[in-house]
Amino acid sequence: MIVTDKIDEVRQHRWADPGLTWGFVPTMGYLHEGHLSLVQLALAGNERTAVSIYVNPTQFAPSEDLSSYPRNLVGDLAMLETAGVDLVFTPSDAIMYPPDFQTTVSLSRITQPLEGSSRPTHFAGVATIVTKLFNIVQPSRAYFGQKDVQQTVVLRQMVRDLNFNVEIVIGSTSREPDGLAMSSRNARLSETDRAAAAVLYRALSAAKAAYEAGEQSGSALRKLIVDMITAVPQAKIDYVSVADPNTLEELDVIADGMLLSTAVFFGKTRLIDNILIEATEDTE
Ligand code: PAJ
Repeated sequence: MIVTDKIDEVRQHRWADPGLTWGFVPTMGYLHEGHLSLVQLALAGNERTAVSIYVNPTQFAPSEDLSSYPRNLVGDLAMLETAGVDLVFTPSDAIMYPPDFQTTVSLSRITQPLEGSSRPTHFAGVATIVTKLFNIVQPSRAYFGQKDVQQTVVLRQMVRDLNFNVEIVIGSTSREPDGLAMSSRNARLSETDRAAAAVLYRALSAAKAAYEAGEQSGSALRKLIVDMITAVPQAKIDYVSVADPNTLEELDVIADGMLLSTAVFFGKTRLIDNILIEATEDTE
């Protein structure tokens, strides 16, 4: 496995045999089963697989957890080596954002609701770093997790708008046995908060069940989720949303397909989760 922080070296390996397909999994490290499930998809779907590990400062607001974001490069590299990854790109801030850096990739409507309303600069940081990573690695396919659903919608839009020659593949959310979506941030939960955090998936699943039993009111589904999460004293809701899966606009009536999503604080740790119910004509 090649591990490099040099852009030239990535390009040299990527284009050593231009006939080979490359899968690419961008990450911020502190890898868990969720990241590895994307790596497995990339390995299975391509002749070569690259992973990047880079905690991107521009997607964190000054008030957020950049400095305390968990890191474990040695452990991450061991996991990727065992998995059979071909190349890992581990750039420094100096390489990704040299002092004269001036460009931002930002999207409009799609970045405004949900995560964007709480984190207004987040998606410009994500779109900018993913653009850079796509230009460096030039993968055939890039893999992202359903866990960060708005990120997938934003990046698909960006790829369409800017004509990137890369196929975006979405992997399903890996969960702990109690349903909690795996996240690098789970490591920072206290024991009681960790146990309490299972309410996110429980509440979203209850709303899904209510919808399947005939509930079509967006506000009723939102209330069901809010009530279940509020019943847990450690949980502080940031948002609860029942939205159109494509536009991310809130729905009054669920006609066909919806995205149930939530962001909840446990202490200083902010967790997100979602369940997507696809429109019937979209189901594969
Ligand atoms: P990070 O949070 O490290 O996540 C890397 C990838 O793993 C993302 O596509 C994310 O959606 C996916 N992922 C995280 N938890 C998952 C889970 N439980 N199941 C399945 N997939 C999961 O997302 C980022 O990094 C950054 O924003 C990045 C795209 C790398 C740009 O900096």
